[in-house]
Amino acid sequence: MFFSILFLLSIFLLQPFHSSAIPFLSKQEDNFAIYQNINHTVSNDGKLQSRPKRVAIVGAGASGSAAAFFLKRAARTVEARLGVEEGSRLGEIVVFEKEGYVGGRTTTIHPHSDPRLRAQELGGSIFVEANRNMMKGVEYFNLTLINPDMAESGIGIWDGEKFLFKTSASSWIDSAKALWRYGPLSPYRTKSAVAKLVNNFLKLYDPSYLSQRGPVGSISDLAEDLGLGNEYTTRTGKDWAKNVVGVNQKWLGEIWEGSTRVNYASDMDHIHALGAGVSMAAGGASQVEGGNWQIFRGMLDDSKAKLHLGTEVSEIIPLDSKDSPQFIVRSNKTQLNDDEPFDAVFFAAPWHSSPISKKLAANFVSPIPHQPYVRLHVTYFTTTQPHPLPSFFGLSEDSYIPNAILTSGLTSRIQSIPPPRFQSISWHGEVLPGSGEYAVKIFSLTRLSDRFIHKLIGEESGWLVRKEWDSYPKLKTTSSYAPVEPIKGLHYLAAQEAWISTMETQTVSGREAVARLVNEWWGLGLGECENGDSWDWTCSN
Ligand SMILES: *[C@@H]1O[C@H](CO)[C@@H](O)[C@H](O)[C@H]1NC(C)=O
Ligand SMILES: *[C@@H]1O[C@H](CO)[C@@H](O)[C@H](O)[C@H]1NC(C)=O
Ligand SMILES: *[C@@H]1O[C@H](CO)[C@@H](O)[C@H](O)[C@H]1NC(C)=O
Repeated sequence: MFFSILFLLSIFLLQPFHSSAIPFLSKQEDNFAIYQNINHTVSNDGKLQSRPKRVAIVGAGASGSAAAFFLKRAARTVEARLGVEEGSRLGEIVVFEKEGYVGGRTTTIHPHSDPRLRAQELGGSIFVEANRNMMKGVEYFNLTLINPDMAESGIGIWDGEKFLFKTSASSWIDSAKALWRYGPLSPYRTKSAVAKLVNNFLKLYDPSYLSQRGPVGSISDLAEDLGLGNEYTTRTGKDWAKNVVGVNQKWLGEIWEGSTRVNYASDMDHIHALGAGVSMAAGGASQVEGGNWQIFRGMLDDSKAKLHLGTEVSEIIPLDSKDSPQFIVRSNKTQLNDDEPFDAVFFAAPWHSSPISKKLAANFVSPIPHQPYVRLHVTYFTTTQPHPLPSFFGLSEDSYIPNAILTSGLTSRIQSIPPPRFQSISWHGEVLPGSGEYAVKIFSLTRLSDRFIHKLIGEESGWLVRKEWDSYPKLKTTSSYAPVEPIKGLHYLAAQEAWISTMETQTVSGREAVARLVNEWWGLGLGECENGDSWDWTCSN
């Protein structure tokens, strides 16, 4: 999830009814019992391979780093089975990253650029319990999981003119107020619908499911096989919530839309139902102390890939070769360029943000459709104010103002008033405990002026950073996706972005691409054994 303060909403989903949390952990084992374990062995190709494979990865974000990681794990398995030296089947993995850091759309800054002050997420900031690769990465790389804890002083839903809903300091009163405003059915139905969606998603971590399914050749197949395909992507969030889930308009336009606006900067009538559902899957929201990017850094380090930062790939040239594809990869760091070919390329960045020549695209099995991205403005600053000023919202000085504010476009759609000028405002606690200096993050679709900030806090900010991102795709309704392997040997890891765009799904995309490749190279199967682990390609240890 690019950003979520959605777990705040769990106070509505969980407290009033106090049934158990969304069953992220239910395993559906019965459904999978029918799947047979496939006995994969290393193919002759693996034995006869003439030289170690060489792989280029374009982009060191979540999907590129995950691809490096899973590829190296697969190679270790194959090499161990064959009893050959490490590096004899998979040689170099070379990663090209145009930015000067690992993590892509996941990166942190320290207020005042002071490393002693708590790192703040500028991009992808929260993941949830169902995000198994992220969760496991935290453990595997010895990182510390922290609770983002932003709900302490309540949340409000702002429509541009007034607060539609505000929580107070008492969870009991909050629950009563929420129940009064939204009724019991809408939260309950949302919870069930989202639980179903999450359960389908969790098949992606079931080794026996993966083994039975095998590598997939398209995002449509992947999505349909999981039960998260056209049923969810060809209708809007609004249509689904209203007509299928059956929630009322207030819940849809205030709570649910507050979520889609903070998660994907989209209103419910402009996002597909899957994006709307993912926005509400908030169970167990967490982040990594010091920054989520450390998971991706850990993955890259583990893969022993050769990493070139500040290096932009300018050309990928397919070579005419008899049996297997090969590519020359050139970057703007000319001293790196040589004619040592790569046996595969993982293109792990949005295609349209890259300067790769259109000549290559002319050979694609099907074109990569143009994918518009949301241009998100992140304004990060510090202040001595523990809350936004009531006057900013036209309220009297003694009014209580929550320090997490979500927004709704509902009023602006019904009456013709301008929509809120921002997607969300959130106070993120003190930059150093006891310092009295708070970090604040605002998402908006336009630049927020110094005057805007001054009105909000009644003082000059202590420190301020403005960052613009192509943060996530516009999740419009769709039934077709970019090809995952547009040309033999070149894998496009951002193809799934229009389906679900989160840090987690990027790691899944990396793994799926590796699965296609190692199946072809070494006959290695995905999942392989029922009691194995979705990170491993074998159950033998
Ligand atoms: C699985 O493969 C191994 C190694 O080739 C073989 O000995 C074994 O009989 C196979 N098992 C099945 C069920 O095919
Ligand atoms: C290559 O491109 C990157 C990203 O645009 C840039 O930061 C870097 O300075 C460039 N390097 C050279 C040697 O031109
Ligand atoms: C994590 O910690 C364990 C136990 O201290 C250690 O064995 C392991 O190598 C560490 N892993 C990494 C990636 O640092």
